[in-house]
Amino acid sequence: MPALPEVARILGTLGLTPSRRSEAVEGALPLAANSPQKCPLGLYNEKLSGTAFTAPRDDNLQTWLYRILPSASHQNFQPVPESSPNSLTSTTPSFGKHFNAIPNQLRWDPFDFDKEASWIHSLHLVAGAGDPTMKQGLGIYIYAAGSTMPDKTAFYSADGDFLIVPQHGVLDIRTEMGKMLVRPNEICVIPRGIRYHVALHGNEPVRGYILELYQGHFKLPELGPIGSNGLANARDFQTPVADFIEDYENTEWTLYGKFGGNLFAAKQSHTPFDIVGWHGTYYPYKYDLGRFNPVGSISYDHPDPSIFTVLTAPSIPHGAGTAVADFVIFPPRWLVAEKTFRPPWYHRNTMSEFMGLIMGNYDAKGAGKGGFQPAGASLHNTMSGHGPDMQTFEKASTMDLPPTKVGEGSMAFMFESCLMVGVTEWGLKTCQKVQETYNAHSWEPLKVHFKRPESSRGLSDGEKKNGVGDAKDLSSVHDIRGK
Ligand SMILES: [Fe+2]
Repeated sequence: MPALPEVARILGTLGLTPSRRSEAVEGALPLAANSPQKCPLGLYNEKLSGTAFTAPRDDNLQTWLYRILPSASHQNFQPVPESSPNSLTSTTPSFGKHFNAIPNQLRWDPFDFDKEASWIHSLHLVAGAGDPTMKQGLGIYIYAAGSTMPDKTAFYSADGDFLIVPQHGVLDIRTEMGKMLVRPNEICVIPRGIRYHVALHGNEPVRGYILELYQGHFKLPELGPIGSNGLANARDFQTPVADFIEDYENTEWTLYGKFGGNLFAAKQSHTPFDIVGWHGTYYPYKYDLGRFNPVGSISYDHPDPSIFTVLTAPSIPHGAGTAVADFVIFPPRWLVAEKTFRPPWYHRNTMSEFMGLIMGNYDAKGAGKGGFQPAGASLHNTMSGHGPDMQTFEKASTMDLPPTKVGEGSMAFMFESCLMVGVTEWGLKTCQKVQETYNAHSWEPLKVHFKRPESSRGLSDGEKKNGVGDAKDLSSVHDIRGK
């Protein structure tokens, strides 16, 4: 896709967590102070906190905003009725209730476009875990919108950070901190609380996936022995630059807020997009997945998919190296491993895996109707066995193994979580996209290839002495344990 001029105009190549500053009007930011008696240009200042004030320096996310009017200036919030064209179609399970946790492997056909819905109404909660009021867990959405959000409206989620993964159509997002144009094969993160408006670029319908993080924030994974570069490089994350609207006389805006899984709306007599300058460490950003630098095996064996982690949100209570959400991709890459079964192995994980496909085919699953298709999804929950389907196994275990490029024109991804991810009523039934025969097509047909050796060669000493299948002979086990 050719570069869109607006992307070049609004975005700089900036790092991920370092402090950033941006002025739409020169001199909007005070010099060497955050809260002078009078802010420059007659602006109000406002602090936006993404972490506790006292969070460790490396994790501390705070931004100073310099705006025409403070965000506090609005009428009371009122609940948005279900009948509203801007309502949420599926609310988060209320306090004390849970997502439907089931052990079945699940796969969904591509989710439908919705030509009528704009952004908020297009958010379909499919799966999740935890509770936003406790700031624990995550929600997974499919969005499918056919119209731009109404003029003079804005949306924010107090419940968590939105990691947005477009599958179709370009999102033209105006945030409080500036604009971002986000295309398929790019992602963006809009942190908790930041207000934004979503327009369709060129009136093309949009569809994609969202992970809402109820706790913590995404960061780049540690690189360990990989060294100082590789995977997603910090320099490739882009942040918006300040861009504001002057609309504060004889005007009415509607601000929608998702709070505790429910939607509220408040009127205000000025635009929320009036930030003339900002500086700090809490801001939206976007990233082109095409810039990911994959690392893999250059000798033998299929490594763990953690080598493809783009962003991670650690969960300290679950132990070192554990994440409430990892965003992992399977980009185009060379497979060169020798004498190796190259697709993923069969596995049961303590982590839950929600996968989606932005474009193309994923190398471990059959494509086409009934398979794993772009705009579809799968969920393999805690300790639910899965792996290549029968056809993929048969092919990959007998094929020649020259160096092979896989994933050309393709981008699959995974939202992986240490939590048991449950499914909503919308995800299980209302959407009508669950493939009821997923297991029957994928793994029930797996063939038995086991052959017991015909001669005594290959039998253990115990089997030779006592006959095959003599369960009483445990001497070899005892010997090993005794040493
Ligand atoms: Fe898996």
